[in-house]
Amino acid sequence: MKSTAEHAVAVAPLEEVVLAEDAAEARRRLCVALATFATGVTIVTARTHDGTKLGVTANSFNSVSLSPPLILVSLARTLFSFEEFLRAPAFAVNVLRLEQRELCHRFGRASPEKWSGVRCTEGLHGAPLLEERLAVFECTPYAQYDGGDHVIVLGRVARFAANPNLEPLVYYGGALRSLAERHRVGEDLAFMCGWGG
Ligand SMILES: Cc1cc2nc3c(=O)[nH]c(=O)nc-3n(C[C@H](O)[C@H](O)[C@H](O)COP(=O)(O)O)c2cc1C
Repeated sequence: MKSTAEHAVAVAPLEEVVLAEDAAEARRRLCVALATFATGVTIVTARTHDGTKLGVTANSFNSVSLSPPLILVSLARTLFSFEEFLRAPAFAVNVLRLEQRELCHRFGRASPEKWSGVRCTEGLHGAPLLEERLAVFECTPYAQYDGGDHVIVLGRVARFAANPNLEPLVYYGGALRSLAERHRVGEDLAFMCGWGG
């Protein structure tokens, strides 16, 4: 049994968010701090009125409410597909499996090749549903809120499916990982910011 002293961890000091002074460095340190929050990875999909498939990688997905059933995702105002997503009559959040790193990269940047070879079916209002996924939540738009350089999109879940026995793809410390990974990424992050590990 280890003593308490052996488990002692230096507590990182609080930092003010002063973005005016050294904006780039302050922003980097804030990003590193935010990256300590582990998330899953999703591909948010929809279909435009003219039938074009939309898809973006998003890790800002979160559950919001059970009654009514609401989820959220934050969409960057800079997305090419931004306006079309906001206008879509439905959208789907496809939660990625560990084996779907390539899809995460592919849908994580603007490209005309996003859908090439991707097997999917049609969900509500034609929103593409990935055939392979950990879970999927089909939503109708519920509300949209200002989120700075993003817009927070709330969706009301109409249908869902999940395979909780499969392994999730995890995003942590700015990289894709598995739940089982033993690499001590926390120490890397602390080192990058000069915090006690
Ligand atoms: C791991 C990861 C997570 C991302 N999360 C988000 C997100 O939550 N919201 C967002 O707007 N963009 C996010 N992006 C960036 C978008 O996926 C990317 O800008 C988008 O695919 C570009 O789509 P466009 O062709 O419509 O511009 C993320 C990218 C990666 C690699």
